[in-house]
Amino acid sequence: VYICLCNALTDTQVREAASSGAMRVRDVYAGCGCQAQCGRCTATVLSILREERAAEGGAG
Ligand code: FES
Repeated sequence: VYICLCNALTDTQVREAASSGAMRVRDVYAGCGCQAQCGRCTATVLSILREERAAEGGAG
């Protein structure tokens, strides 16, 4: 599923970035070699980041 249309990022890429250590939304874009453009996807990216962090069983 495409999360970010500007950069053609999929939820899989966002999850991979999160599991590679991205802590913030901007880290996800950086990890994918791009930057947020319109910003519409940031809430979705953030919720995926939170899901991934929760799935890792960490404190936060
Ligand atoms: S949809 Fe991600 S920056 Fe525009």
